[in-house]
Formats: sequence, C-alpha cells, structure tokens
Amino acid sequence: MAVLWSASSSWERPERLNHTPSPPHTVYLHRPTAEHAFALPSHRRAPKTRFGVQSMAHGLLQGKRGIITGALNEQSIAWKVAELAHAEGARFVLTNAPVAMRMGEIKKLADTTKAPVIPADATNDADLEKLFNESVQQLGGPVDFLLHSIGMSPNVRKGRTYSDLNYEWYKQTLDVSAMSLHRMLQAANKVDAIAKGGSVVALTYIAAQRVFPDYNDMADAKALLESITRSWGYRLGRDKKIRVNTVSQSPTMTTAGTGIKGFDGFFGFADAMSPLGNAPAEACAEYCLALFSDYTRYVTMQNLFHDGGFSTTGVTPEVMAKFMGPEA
Ligand code: NAI
Repeated sequence: MAVLWSASSSWERPERLNHTPSPPHTVYLHRPTAEHAFALPSHRRAPKTRFGVQSMAHGLLQGKRGIITGALNEQSIAWKVAELAHAEGARFVLTNAPVAMRMGEIKKLADTTKAPVIPADATNDADLEKLFNESVQQLGGPVDFLLHSIGMSPNVRKGRTYSDLNYEWYKQTLDVSAMSLHRMLQAANKVDAIAKGGSVVALTYIAAQRVFPDYNDMADAKALLESITRSWGYRLGRDKKIRVNTVSQSPTMTTAGTGIKGFDGFFGFADAMSPLGNAPAEACAEYCLALFSDYTRYVTMQNLFHDGGFSTTGVTPEVMAKFMGPEA
C-alpha cells in the first residue's frame, strides 16, 4: 500500500483556507476545551474532520436502521460513514467480505459504533440473502439506508494493462465492483429488507464518464455500477419510493484508491483542477448522510459529483502554469 501522505495538505494551503466557506453546522475547535469535548454525549459526538473542525451531531439519522459495506480500515470511506452515522443516531449492521474480516480491524469500528458485524461476500447470493435476513432481525425491521462501498480489480492489483486484460479477472472486477450492487438490491427486494422511502448510495468515480487510463477495467465497472443505479432506482422508486444514487468521489487515500497505478499523480492533478480541492473521505461521509436523510427524499437515479468542482472545471492557472513558457 502506498504511503498515506497527508490528504489534508490542500486544506492547509493559505489561499485555499481563505476561500473555504465554513462547512455548515460546524463548531471550530481551535483551542479544544473539556467543555467542547464533552458537551455532547459520546454517541452524539461526530468524528473530527479534516477541516480541523468537529461536526455537530443533529440526530439526522435518529431512529434509522442501515447496512454499511466496505469498512476495511480507518482510511475507508465506509469507516467514516459508519462513525458519522453512529454520531447522527443511526443503528446499523457492518458487513464486509469474510477475507477482509480476518484482518480484524472492523472489530474496532463495531465496538465504537455498537454495530453487529455480518460477513458477506458481495458476489455470493446466499451470503447476501443471509445478510439481509439477519440484518432485519438484528435491527428489528427493514433498513432505511444501504451503503455500497465495494471495489476491487484483480487486473489492477496484478498490474495487467487495459490492452492486456485477463478476462477471468475482468469478470471478477465487474462482479465485485458493479454486479454486487445488483445482487444486493435483488436480494433485498425479494425479502422487503429496505423500508419504504429508504435510500441506497453506491460510491463511484468519474472514470465512468471520462478516460483515466490507469483506472483500467475499474472504469468499465463504474460505468456499469452507475447504470445499475438508474435501472434499479426506477424500479425501486416506482414500487417502494426507495432512492438509489451514486456519489462520484474525489481521489481519496484509501487501500482501494492507492492501489491504482499513478494514484499520487491523479490525486495531485485532481486537487489542482478543483476549485475547492479534493473532497476528503470525511466530507464524502457527510454527503452520504445527507442522501440517507429525509432531506433528499426526491433525489434518485442520479450520479452526484462530490469532487470539489473537478468534473466541471476545464483548466486552472495552477495546471496551465506547468505548460507556459518563462515569459508568462
Ligand atoms: P477500501 O479499500 O477501504 O474499500 C473497498 C472495500 O471493498 C473493502 O472494504 C473491501 O474489503 C471491499 N470488498 C472487496 N471485495 C469485496 C467482496 N467480494 N465482498 C464484499 N466487500 C468487498 O477503499 P475505498 O476507497 O473506501 O473504496 C470504497 C468505494 O469508494 C469503492 O467503490 C471505490 O471504488 C470508491 N471510490 C474510491 C475512490 C478513492 O480514490 N479511494 C474514489 C472514488 C470512488
């Protein structure tokens, strides 16, 4: 795994800080005091974010039940979602592939968020059926939110280029990273495991729309994931008022992210091309929670960019400067 260099660096640049609007509902903790730290009961205290501020819990998900996939370690986007969902009053099940469980880190998160853990390989229909049945049982009813935060490409892992793919691995990439969303929603739908008005969010990347050569076969998987989101979103919206969206996140320093060849390069490039800078994992968690909440109950079948403005920026002076002659 590549070194996790400080992903907060962009926020520490003075010019960025000057132009950074305060995230809403936040309390600055320049000089943390015992009063600040203990003002809220622990289950209502949100984790500290990269903005150097602490989000104030609002009980946004109070009374809601959920399932969160993909929390591998503290860097995982799903880990941040779980911490924040807990702080905002949700109860949920944590799940990951049995092999990821053996690494043991999820136990820490399960303890702090008081969440049961149910192992499930997202490509195994029997595992998924069990996941939904047991979740409904353990949480005492159908879930209100589901986070799909799963991605893996054997071709990327083993360094096969797009023009020399191993097709068995390609199938695995598509199955783990995209079809797994279809499998999950099909399994959940059959046993009515998602409540009316519920919200499903899957994480994706802009390589589904634009070419990022080193993203390799993951680009195809993300394109499929976004299409499955629309296809299921239509059906679940019509039948059960359930929303299904993808969040297209900035490059983020996680195990999956840093596994991509040249990741440091496109992390830096995206940061320089985004007026707000790359969105950190904690901010992605906040966006996911907004989508789980009732405030977004008419948003569905969308691919929502959470990328600091990268997707609609043509060029920035910072990037142009690299190509300008000395007279510029
Ligand atoms: P991560 O490596 O922490 O999470 C990926 C998760 O997928 C891991 O927990 C892993 O155990 C799980 N997984 C893999 N195979 C599985 C299977 N068969 N069954 C169940 N779970 C399985 O990395 P990260 O970055 O938090 O990834 C979460 C999602 O965010 C992925 O969909 C990723 O593609 C997406 N994303 C990540 C970006 C980044 O730069 N890190 C940017 C945009 C999207």
